[in-house]
Amino acid sequence: MSDGLQRRLVHQASAPYRPAGRWAWHFARGKLSNDPVFAALLRPGLLPASGRYLDLGCGQGLLASWLQAAATLHARQDWPVEQAAPPRISAYHGLDMQAAAIRYAHLALADCDFSVRLDLGDLRDFALPGADVITLFDVLHYLPDSAQEGLLQRIRSSLSPNGRLLLRVGDGAAGLPHRLSRVVDSLVVRVQGGAWPQLHCRPATAWQALLGDLGFRVEPCPMAGAGFANVLLSAFPN
Ligand SMILES: C[S@@+](CC[C@H](N)C(=O)[O-])C[C@H]1O[C@@H](n2cnc3c(N)ncnc32)[C@H](O)[C@@H]1O
Repeated sequence: MSDGLQRRLVHQASAPYRPAGRWAWHFARGKLSNDPVFAALLRPGLLPASGRYLDLGCGQGLLASWLQAAATLHARQDWPVEQAAPPRISAYHGLDMQAAAIRYAHLALADCDFSVRLDLGDLRDFALPGADVITLFDVLHYLPDSAQEGLLQRIRSSLSPNGRLLLRVGDGAAGLPHRLSRVVDSLVVRVQGGAWPQLHCRPATAWQALLGDLGFRVEPCPMAGAGFANVLLSAFPN
């Protein structure tokens, strides 16, 4: 993606967080500018042309704001011809256990073109609704191993044959970059009023093996400049 498009997208996707206050807006700008996962989402084929999204551990809903921003720029023809048309959300359902994050998401996603539902709750006992795309970005390591496995099992059972899970996890074997990344995650939870979390990490190879054991076919997706040793995995029901 060109730098110009990246800048316009960051501006468009972070502006709706202004009513939520300075923290939410600055956090949106910083994360959308620096996290390579957002540019990766616009790569052709990673996501379906259109679909219902279930964003587990959605935080302040940046994924929805980013894809809404892409749809807006594309509709305005403020979109490079060489860049594939962005994937569209037909309905978005986000869940998070941080009340502040859900409050920010409500404010920022109020004017989306698609229906938005946001729930405050714990994904360990959340009944998974139907979805074409389930996302878990930087979330699984907050759960103990058995809860990680239980959740992935439930996702496997709930996904339609054409559905996909998009998972971003840390590579627990990556040493210092991995530890830095986890410190950042913990600080964000603390700043939003949560308790200092206990993290449960695995090496990237172990995540892939676990998904395989649970009946997923896994495709690793490269991310440009993934400095914090995170990996993005697409997982499809076998
Ligand atoms: C590092 S943030 C990532 C947020 C979002 N996925 C993103 O990429 O911007 C992790 C999020 O997972 C949420 N989370 C952790 N454990 C959870 C649980 N058991 N149930 C619901 N949300 C949880 C935290 O509240 C936090 O908002």
